[in-house]
Amino acid sequence: MVKGSKVTTNDAGIPVSSDEFSLSVGADGPIVLHDHYLMEQMANFNREMIPDRQPHAKGSGAFGHFEVTHDVSAYTRAALFQPGTKTDVLTRFSTVAGESGSPDTWRDVRGFAVKFYTSEGNYDMVGNNTPVFFIRDPMKFHHFIHSQKRRADSGLRDADMQWDFWTLSPESAHQVTILMSDRGIPKSYRHMNGYTSHTYMWVNAKGEKFWVKYHFKTDQGIETLTQEEGDRIAGDDADYHRRDLFDAISKGDFPSWTLKVQIMPFEDAKTYRFNPFDLTKVWPHEDYPLHEVGKLTLDRNPTDFHSEIEQAAFEPNSMPPGIGPSPDKMLLARLISYADAHRARLGVNYKQIPVNKPIVPVNNYSKGGTMRIDKVSDPVYAPNSKGGPVPDAEKYPEQTGWDASGEFIRAAYTLRKDDDDFGQPGTLVREVMNDAQREALVNNVIGSLGGVSKPVLERVYEYWTNIDAEIGKRIKEGNEAK
Ligand code: NDP
Ligand code: HEM
Repeated sequence: MVKGSKVTTNDAGIPVSSDEFSLSVGADGPIVLHDHYLMEQMANFNREMIPDRQPHAKGSGAFGHFEVTHDVSAYTRAALFQPGTKTDVLTRFSTVAGESGSPDTWRDVRGFAVKFYTSEGNYDMVGNNTPVFFIRDPMKFHHFIHSQKRRADSGLRDADMQWDFWTLSPESAHQVTILMSDRGIPKSYRHMNGYTSHTYMWVNAKGEKFWVKYHFKTDQGIETLTQEEGDRIAGDDADYHRRDLFDAISKGDFPSWTLKVQIMPFEDAKTYRFNPFDLTKVWPHEDYPLHEVGKLTLDRNPTDFHSEIEQAAFEPNSMPPGIGPSPDKMLLARLISYADAHRARLGVNYKQIPVNKPIVPVNNYSKGGTMRIDKVSDPVYAPNSKGGPVPDAEKYPEQTGWDASGEFIRAAYTLRKDDDDFGQPGTLVREVMNDAQREALVNNVIGSLGGVSKPVLERVYEYWTNIDAEIGKRIKEGNEAK
């Protein structure tokens, strides 16, 4: 026995006499049915696994803090963004399409989720390492994810399915350009940016409203892997990014990100040249420059990956006073999707799991449910005259938001002057990328076209020609010369 070791107990805390031998009828006889400690061990083992997240199953996480360095109180009254405030956080990075054991270095978008344990309740910023997304209407989300995951018949991933969906969904062009660029495989989770992607609303102490987009810029610098490096590492070490994050924090090399925001005056949204709520578009920096807010630093690894990272539940609907949703339809759907996913994956009382528990008291009338930990007390109904909690609707304009009117129709946004699906990816290719990045883009696209059928391939060439005629030509010629 190692000095200082504790005596093994069963789950009720009762000491047990062996972790090696079952209770048997003589050394050579059968084991007896009443060896309930053996039964407890086998039963617990059979229930160790919980469902994967659907999507973003493979991920890694760490704890740390967010510290405000610049005064943005003119734009938001959220306590966590007030000057000098320091807030504990949990961050989880992830890939989207792979399962929980899939290689970290597959080409994919990366999730960038931050839970801020604020003095006004938990704030979950559930973003990605890209500033835009593949679609602009949530009705297409499930189809999109299905097309990126596995076929019904073979259980295989399928480039034909991916490109079929993308080329029939031209709004995907901006995100696909980023995915196929050098940024499609980050060198590590430490070497990528994070974005809310969505536009959110900020409300200041005077009740004035602003639109914002967050950019967490990596202080380690952007670094990426080539397709060849990613493929090799996927075979050598499927957990390459998980290992990198854990090892860096273990040895005191704490990664950090500088949070900057773009701020749009509330009234600008009505006339801005791009629809500012369309998730497939960015706001060019020359229109809305970045304002520095603070620094996110990760300095503590989990000690129990399952209870602290697998059971972490991030939900975009969790926004404290001073922060609210915008009319982005994708965001509005996400406000109800995630909590439902957590109820299915973790159970109705998932917010009582320590990693998800706010640091402030929870006062409401929810009661019961599987695995409830927090005790409830009377009164259990509202309204009541017994001193139970009372809501304060007047103080929270973020929760009522903006106004809207119109008939019920199925449509995604009215187009603005500069709104088209290929303009911004074209700018990225022509004005932001250098020759080497354009070359990598062409090669990455060609490399992804194995197994794509003829009619889909024709649409792929047209799609890239719409983004940029020269890139389209190079992709077609390069692929046909293979
Ligand atoms: P800027 O020149 O001011 O900014 C270009 C941005 O592109 C920088 O934020 C840079 O990020 C980022 N970037 C560089 N390479 C890539 C890549 N391979 N994939 C994704 N992003 C990349 O230009 P504009 O603001 O006018 O935007 C021009 C284009 O840049 C947009 O159409 C969009 O495609 C892309 N972009 C714009 C962003 C925005 O919020 N305005 C954000 C990210 C991309 P970094 O500085 O961190 O290196
Ligand atoms: C995870 C739904 C779009 C970022 C998830 C999960 C669901 C989901 C159900 C799994 C949650 C869990 O089990 O814990 C949706 C829907 C979307 C959408 C319905 C659109 C309508 C987006 C967008 C982003 C994003 C646009 C980024 C800007 C993430 C991240 C995770 C995630 C980072 C993993 C969170 C974690 O680390 O636990 N999404 N999603 N999603 N999603 Fe989305």
